[in-house]
Amino acid sequence: MAYFGGHVAGPNLAKGDIVVSHAENVIENLTTAVVVADTALRLQAVNPATEMLFELSAKQMVGQQLQRLWPQTASLAGLFADTLQTAHSFTRRGLPLLLPGREVVVDMTVTAISPGPEQTARRDAVLLLELTQVDRLRRLAQEEELMDRHVAQRAVVRGLAHEIKNPLGGLRGAAQLLERKLTEGEREYTRIIIREADRLQSLVDRLAEPARPYLQTQVNIHQILEHVRSLLLAEVGEGIVFQRDYDPSIPEFAADPDQLVQAVLNLVRNAVQSSSRTVVLRSRIERQFTIGQRRHKLVLRAEVEDDGPGVPQALRDTLFYPMVTGRAEGSGLGLSIAQDIARRHGGLIDYVSRPGRTVFTLFLPLRQNYDGTG
Ligand SMILES: Nc1ncnc2c1ncn2[C@@H]1O[C@H](COP(=O)(O)OP(=O)(O)OP(=O)(O)O)[C@@H](O)[C@H]1O
Ligand SMILES: [Mg+2]
Repeated sequence: MAYFGGHVAGPNLAKGDIVVSHAENVIENLTTAVVVADTALRLQAVNPATEMLFELSAKQMVGQQLQRLWPQTASLAGLFADTLQTAHSFTRRGLPLLLPGREVVVDMTVTAISPGPEQTARRDAVLLLELTQVDRLRRLAQEEELMDRHVAQRAVVRGLAHEIKNPLGGLRGAAQLLERKLTEGEREYTRIIIREADRLQSLVDRLAEPARPYLQTQVNIHQILEHVRSLLLAEVGEGIVFQRDYDPSIPEFAADPDQLVQAVLNLVRNAVQSSSRTVVLRSRIERQFTIGQRRHKLVLRAEVEDDGPGVPQALRDTLFYPMVTGRAEGSGLGLSIAQDIARRHGGLIDYVSRPGRTVFTLFLPLRQNYDGTG
């Protein structure tokens, strides 16, 4: 793909030199977004991290005026000019850049690079912009905490579920024996015991899930999303509109399809239950993406977006904990189970939510094989 290698327009990023091509390679693989602009503040080159940050291709950005692309940088025009004049770099922290439909907050460091040391070379200078997404750094720290907490919780819950399961069987058996000795009128009580024991049993089964070993097959994410969509269409009928926004180029990957259906189903069902009218199913690819502490070459992003009222504020810190629910009839297991499934595939579920727009995102590393240990 053409980034620094192909879209270079300035004379100072000379090619054909091994050192330069090595440097290009480094820039291409940076997670920091790097932008080169000329003295007229027109973009000359961007690296893949920039494309990822702004969800635009290099082609769409190169040649554009900086201030047209990100109008918020207009207020910095004086600083850009100073930097070109004096070669003093500057950093602006927490700069919000409004993009279509979202906002990205970045720390931006701007440096002027001259082709030569001479004063005369300044008119050929370029501006180097380094952009780090600050909300993303915060998110990464939170993710790690989330994963650690989740592992500990699941262990406790599974242990507890196991402990409840055994006496529950005995309780139910005893109630059945007792039932035989009772008159029809008295059996009402043993039936309550049996019914409640069954209810508890299915709850405990869900708590202990998914303990069974993972299947590994080649999975197509769109088949999974479509399957979930058809299941929910049957459940809710015409009440909700599903929109699809798929990237058809996403390759197949190794995973357990039933488990993924379960995870996505839990997310989509929540979206449907949140009294939204439209649910969007979206698929995207991320390159060089970090989940927890591991960086992956390719990561799938499967999103479930709804236009409901958003996740209640009171639940936000503990949303993925088992038995946390905001619904009277909810058991609060859906997200905990979905997170567990994601984690076992080496992935993660995260969300952003405000009234009118809630997006739950399943991140999955696209691997050809995995060992199932997550
Ligand atoms: N898309 C969403 N919009 C608003 N709130 C949500 C959304 N998804 C989840 N929630 C909130 O998070 C809570 C926990 O969700 P979770 O799926 O874990 O449990 P549940 O839906 O209550 O019960 P279960 O899924 O076990 O039937 C929900 O009760 C709801 O309050
Ligand atoms: Mg749920």
